[in-house]
Amino acid sequence: MQPRYLSLKSFLPWKQVSHPIDWTAQFGRAAPLEVEIGFGNGAFLVRQAQMYPERNFIGLELEWASVQRALRRIAQANVHNVRLLQVDARTAFERFFLPQSLTYVYSLFPCPWPKKRHAKHRLFSHPFLQLLNSRLVPEGEVQIVTDHYPYLQWVLEQVSDTGFAVHWKQIPPRFDTKYERKWYEQGQEQFYELRLHKITHLDIPVKEEIRVETYWVECFDPDRFQPVNERQAATVEFKEFLYDPKRLKGMVRVVVAEENLVQSFWIEIVQREGRWQIRPARGCDVVPTLGVQRALDLVRDAALRPCASE
Ligand SMILES: C[S@@+](CC[C@H](N)C(=O)[O-])C[C@H]1O[C@@H](n2cnc3c(N)ncnc32)[C@H](O)[C@@H]1O
Repeated sequence: MQPRYLSLKSFLPWKQVSHPIDWTAQFGRAAPLEVEIGFGNGAFLVRQAQMYPERNFIGLELEWASVQRALRRIAQANVHNVRLLQVDARTAFERFFLPQSLTYVYSLFPCPWPKKRHAKHRLFSHPFLQLLNSRLVPEGEVQIVTDHYPYLQWVLEQVSDTGFAVHWKQIPPRFDTKYERKWYEQGQEQFYELRLHKITHLDIPVKEEIRVETYWVECFDPDRFQPVNERQAATVEFKEFLYDPKRLKGMVRVVVAEENLVQSFWIEIVQREGRWQIRPARGCDVVPTLGVQRALDLVRDAALRPCASE
């Protein structure tokens, strides 16, 4: 069977590499780094990569279907200077890029979330612009193109104290992306281009990851195991619990949400030499964060609680 993506060579499974990411190692060379947020089917990203072979391009996208389409284009175009990550751009900028490491950031037709009650989902908020500033080299730029005038106005309101000088103008269609064509075919002939030029540096360190501590406990009773959800700095929600009495192994699925990062994974409670080990299950790619540690703490507490009352 021929997969839709043709080749996974340009796909970077970011949970399996250490952060911040060593981009020189990933591309096999040092070169100016440019990032496209929300690349959709990858048409623009691949064209840029073809036009500027001396630069390295990183695409960030939430949707796997889009990642597959873009991987297909990359394989067909035979370009080697692009890496794609399926990730929320906020997580990527917080964790994957060193301060002052990027030359350019693009976002063409970011979701405008036009309804007021959805405005909280808009990406280019004041804190996100500050984060972009910190990851850009001096004089680096962010380019945002939108079809939606209220979104342009909203981004303009976010810019003060982000270290950027801002310019915007009306432009005709010129990027030939799926969404630009969509709006053009619906009769829109003018779009809005924002350019944010970095003039002062804001220092925001890379978000730290931790070494997750696993636990050994003396007793574990699967019938009385009831981990308690928690809503604090991280939200930890336990979803389901499975137990295999033959293998003396429990598995609890947990969702951990902290800031912009949501992780769903299994924690295993497995008996070894008369004791029980609690750790993220093998095969679950987990970003080691305080929230993940908290989930392990809560599983340990739930394992110990019935023993303490005996
Ligand atoms: C309206 S589409 C535009 C796609 C493409 N740039 C184009 O012009 O055809 C917006 C894209 O941004 C992606 N996206 C939205 N929020 C994102 C985020 N926080 N991080 C990465 N990608 C995001 C969506 O999945 C979607 O593919």
